Amino acid sequence: MHKSFIIAALLIAATGAYAETPRDFLTRFEKEAGAAASAERGARFFTAKQGGEWSCASCHTDKPTQAGRHAKTDKPITALAPAANAERFTDAAKVDKWFRRNCNDTLNRVCTPQEKADVTAWLLSLK
Ligand code: HEC
Repeated sequence: MHKSFIIAALLIAATGAYAETPRDFLTRFEKEAGAAASAERGARFFTAKQGGEWSCASCHTDKPTQAGRHAKTDKPITALAPAANAERFTDAAKVDKWFRRNCNDTLNRVCTPQEKADVTAWLLSLK
């Protein structure tokens, strides 16, 4: 085997630089949930307040193909739907970090794999 090939393979393994697509996240969350996602349930979850002051839509709007605004700081947030923003759902560190933070802000708990699967399915269905 050629030496440069081995080095390249090691580099990819070391940095975890696998390209991930929004579909990969949907597959992962469905697997963790042990059940299929429902885009319809995801839409309801995203736009409804869950006991707290905010819903996901408070910052991301109820049309996540458009840009949102942070409900507290008023900072612009680019569109969350992959059809409108190719960077969304391509980086596991980012996806996991923001699901954790935003679910805690919105629900005072982390989201379940089923909730993440449903939201991801809905966001993927938006054109
Ligand atoms: C208080 C405002 C706020 C609320 C409420 C909120 N988010 Fe976010 N969300 C953000 C900000 C800020 C970012 C990070 C900045 C960015 O990526 O544009 C973000 C990023 C994300 C990302 C990262 C996606 C990626 O690949 O870049 C996901 C997923 C996400 N939010 C889902 C949700 C879900 C699901 C809810 C409801 C449970 C929610 N958010 C509620 C502000 C909010």
